[in-house]
Amino acid sequence: MMRTVDEMRTDFPRIVTAPPGPKAAAVIARDKAVVSPSYTRPYPLVAERGEGAIVHDVDGNRFLDMSAGIAVVASGHCHPRVVKAIRQQASRLIHMSGTDYYYENMVALAEKLARVAPGNAPRRVYFGNSGTEAVEAALKMARYHTGRDKFIAFLGGFHGRTMGSLSLTASKSVQRKGFGPLVPGVTHIPYAYCYRCAYGKSPDTCAVECVKVIEEQLVKTILPAEELAAIVLEPVQGEGGYIVPPQKFFDELRRVAEKLGVLIIADEVQSGMGRTGRMWASEHFGLTPDIMAVAKGIASGLPLGATIARAELMQWKPGAHASTFGGNPVAVEASLATLELLEGGLVENAASVGAHMMNRLREWPARYARVGEVRGLGLMIGIEFVKDQATRERDAALRDRVSQLAFERGVLVLGAGQNSIRLSPPLVVTRDQADYALDVLEECLRQAVA
Ligand SMILES: Cc1ncc(COP(=O)(O)O)c(C=O)c1O
Repeated sequence: MMRTVDEMRTDFPRIVTAPPGPKAAAVIARDKAVVSPSYTRPYPLVAERGEGAIVHDVDGNRFLDMSAGIAVVASGHCHPRVVKAIRQQASRLIHMSGTDYYYENMVALAEKLARVAPGNAPRRVYFGNSGTEAVEAALKMARYHTGRDKFIAFLGGFHGRTMGSLSLTASKSVQRKGFGPLVPGVTHIPYAYCYRCAYGKSPDTCAVECVKVIEEQLVKTILPAEELAAIVLEPVQGEGGYIVPPQKFFDELRRVAEKLGVLIIADEVQSGMGRTGRMWASEHFGLTPDIMAVAKGIASGLPLGATIARAELMQWKPGAHASTFGGNPVAVEASLATLELLEGGLVENAASVGAHMMNRLREWPARYARVGEVRGLGLMIGIEFVKDQATRERDAALRDRVSQLAFERGVLVLGAGQNSIRLSPPLVVTRDQADYALDVLEECLRQAVA
């Protein structure tokens, strides 16, 4: 008997029971009773195991994961090299609290991150457990070092959900509603979202008004430069819609920051660790951040965050900042293995598979009237859906419908911003898998608008 492609290709999806199947439905019913309802689950995937870019659910379905667990499993699900590192470390030492004692692999990882961070200045590294903690440490360090208490952040930015990072986050109002008052001293300004420029300009002719506003208005009116500690940005906005600013945004940012003597904090939590086809998104633009927040892909799924700063900025006193679990030895070992894999070819793979995907996707706005813009770097790609290309009216319902249909066909994608789909597969994704995912998305889009 002939076998079908999805039976033969274990690197492609295979749906045998329409999800949620009976086992998935049972887990979801239990979840509803006891797990925080604040989590946003766009569709009922109940994961059981994974390898590479493939995730299996509890009912025997196989999915192609174009979201990498929200841009986390950089080296794919359960990469054997990472699993081995975790196993070996777990049998040696699981915890000793790097805040109070020493262990060698924490030093090795700090050395490594300091070496691969953009720029040549000596660096120091603070370890936490998550993106939000990496951002909190960056905020505290900037205040501590400068003696200033104010920050500029960007609309559409997402920096985490603890009180400090939430004060920077300006992605969706549901993330802030009911939690105030937040940390004072943060001013939000429009990001370089050129498709929807807040100043009505186009990237070719604009004067980077979105940065000029700092120098020409803010510091002259509500934000004295002597009180401004740092400008915080995602070099490529993630949750906001996978938005890539033009080079001149970064040039202007550096000029203004230097002139005003303020720090630049780059939140590379989502854009870092090779996702954009270089180790850091900042590198695409020649940006050397003073402080960088890193997490997500750093340990291929184990909880770890890092705040990397110029050594002279990280001069705080013992006891000033720490976290019991930060830099846990098992997470650190997973991170060392991840970095080895990234440098051993995965960053390159992100660049080449990402370029291949963009070559296809670039044509979509011409081919599909409901695709407004496609943008991205490496394997950080956003597809923005609109009701009409001329008015650019957002089409959130179409985005949701396409994501849902893709799920039913075995391809996992997540939304970003109000009306975009983000493609952020593991960096091990192959060209074949990427093509498969794009074929499915095209079919789903055609079906959704039919
Ligand atoms: C750019 C950015 N910063 C910070 C965070 C917060 O990370 P975490 O959820 O690990 O706290 C995220 C999470 O999505 C992020 O995308």
